[in-house]
Amino acid sequence: MKKNSLVTYLKRKRVLFIVIGIALISGTLVLAFAYTAGLFGGRITSETFLQDTPKTYPAGYRRAHGKGICFEGTFRASGQAVPYSIARVFAQQNVPVIGRFSLGSPDPYAPDNSTRTVSMAAMLTADDGEQWRMKLNNEPFFATRDAEGFLKQMEAYKPTSATGIPDPARVAAFLKEYPEAQKYVEWDATAPWTRSFAGAQYNVINSFILIDAKGKKQAVRWSMVPHAPFTSWSVSQCEEASHDFLFEDLKKRLEKGSLYWDLVLTLAEPGDPVNDPSQVWPENRRQIVAGTLEVSHVFDQTKGGCRDVNFDPTRVPKGITLSDDPVLAARAGIYSHSHSDRVREIGYGKATDAVGKPQKETLRNK
Ligand code: HEM
Repeated sequence: MKKNSLVTYLKRKRVLFIVIGIALISGTLVLAFAYTAGLFGGRITSETFLQDTPKTYPAGYRRAHGKGICFEGTFRASGQAVPYSIARVFAQQNVPVIGRFSLGSPDPYAPDNSTRTVSMAAMLTADDGEQWRMKLNNEPFFATRDAEGFLKQMEAYKPTSATGIPDPARVAAFLKEYPEAQKYVEWDATAPWTRSFAGAQYNVINSFILIDAKGKKQAVRWSMVPHAPFTSWSVSQCEEASHDFLFEDLKKRLEKGSLYWDLVLTLAEPGDPVNDPSQVWPENRRQIVAGTLEVSHVFDQTKGGCRDVNFDPTRVPKGITLSDDPVLAARAGIYSHSHSDRVREIGYGKATDAVGKPQKETLRNK
């Protein structure tokens, strides 16, 4: 081969290698992105948790805990948590709070006697600009050790079309894989139904880490413990209760004055299961009252305020950080997905009664 044609040949080859190289790199990137997005390989993503929506319920609503009411209030720190965390909320006298009470059901039209789960969400904004957002349930623990277990539980307990009840074999297979869920099943079957949002205790369930001025870490969980006494319905009272009894009761109580909850921190000891929300810690763990939440008034969720807030529990201020609880990590993506879906629907004008516009009865899932 002549020198000139050899040079041309090698140049062509080089171009070919470069083209093949670029194609391989881009192909790998496309596959990696598609895998990450769960487009193949059966990977569980935040979308997997929201797969039934938004077809099920009208646009603009939360994909879970759809029925709710916004509240405003104030958190007053006691100072007792200051030795454990540099978070400003633990030292500040009056921290403004926006929050939301809700039912556990995804259905925004659910009757209040349709679920045992009642919830509180809160966003505390300290005067240094740091925010602490949280979601709490009256359940004392999560059913499973991981978020995949939650999906499997939903699947196992779906009523079959033939019988209208869950398939016992599927339930048994689920409980074999997630034996810790038995405790939750018992709670769900026997715990007294709450008769008022005001007397319910709300628990954060996942673990977090407090960080003090020297960088020392302390694992904690917390609860909002009500000043109002807990009251429950008998089975027959519950069956006869009005459609919105919890929400009506809350409004009536607030007409007479504010409602209060103590923010109680439970401090873990070495060996306590910090990364497993299905396991409770021993009862003798030290507790401190970090402050008191005053809920002063409520307003309709269609009006905004709490409507467009993502009470993402992973949004914590300086002085609090996340534990390695896998359910907590999974929730950040799920909430972000649900939040962006619903605010996009509102933004594009697709939402009706979620923003207070009358909705045709035919659209309702009733
Ligand atoms: C893998 C498990 C979970 C899934 C798939 C899930 C799913 C969801 C979704 C999709 C929303 C709607 C969020 C929004 O649009 O802003 C929601 C709200 C909520 N979740 Fe979860 N959740 C899980 C675990 C938990 C746990 C462990 C708790 C309690 C500590 C909890 C408490 C709440 C509360 C209180 C709300 C309503 C918040 C509000 O009023 O904005 N969730 N959940």
